[in-house]
Amino acid sequence: MLALGVYMTEFKDYSFYSLHKSIGAILLIFVILRIYWRFRNKFFEPITNQSVLLTRCAHSIQFLLITMTLVMPVSGIAMSYFSGNGLKVFDVEILARNIDDFGKKLPIDGSLASLFHEVHHYGGYIFIALILIHIFAAIRHIYRKENFVQRILGKNIEIK
Ligand code: HEM
Repeated sequence: MLALGVYMTEFKDYSFYSLHKSIGAILLIFVILRIYWRFRNKFFEPITNQSVLLTRCAHSIQFLLITMTLVMPVSGIAMSYFSGNGLKVFDVEILARNIDDFGKKLPIDGSLASLFHEVHHYGGYIFIALILIHIFAAIRHIYRKENFVQRILGKNIEIK
């Protein structure tokens, strides 16, 4: 989604816009379920072989990552809605377009549309940066031979 969003925006390839919006809107359902699952399940004991500061950083990055998974689809939908474009998910109309008597699209609220556009734009780059940090942290775990894959799979393995 990030790559598709950057590609279609940079190259002004409008043919991908409706695909991007449809997948993004469907992803929102999974994001809500994921967040629900995350907060229903207990958090694992933090890794004990690292500083408290590093543990705090790791938790902040994880929190920001999960937040961005929500911010991106919500800001995308809000931008589409307030700009008057409505929302179609694979040709199924979820939010109607805002059109005048002559069929011309009218923004519902131009300033909110551009606010959410900014959030979506900068949010995308923040999200990419967070993912890169996350990948770097995963490589560090591999380098330190820490069995983090088991923890990802839901096993509360202690790493000392
Ligand atoms: C997980 C969900 C999503 C991700 C990760 C995502 C990511 C992105 C990214 C990175 C861009 C490029 C931003 C830029 O360079 O300005 C983009 C553009 C865009 N996204 Fe999304 N998006 C998501 C969901 C949605 C949804 C649900 C909608 C609308 C219903 C949407 C509508 C758009 C539109 C219209 C653009 C083009 C903006 C422009 O022309 O400047 N996105 N998206």
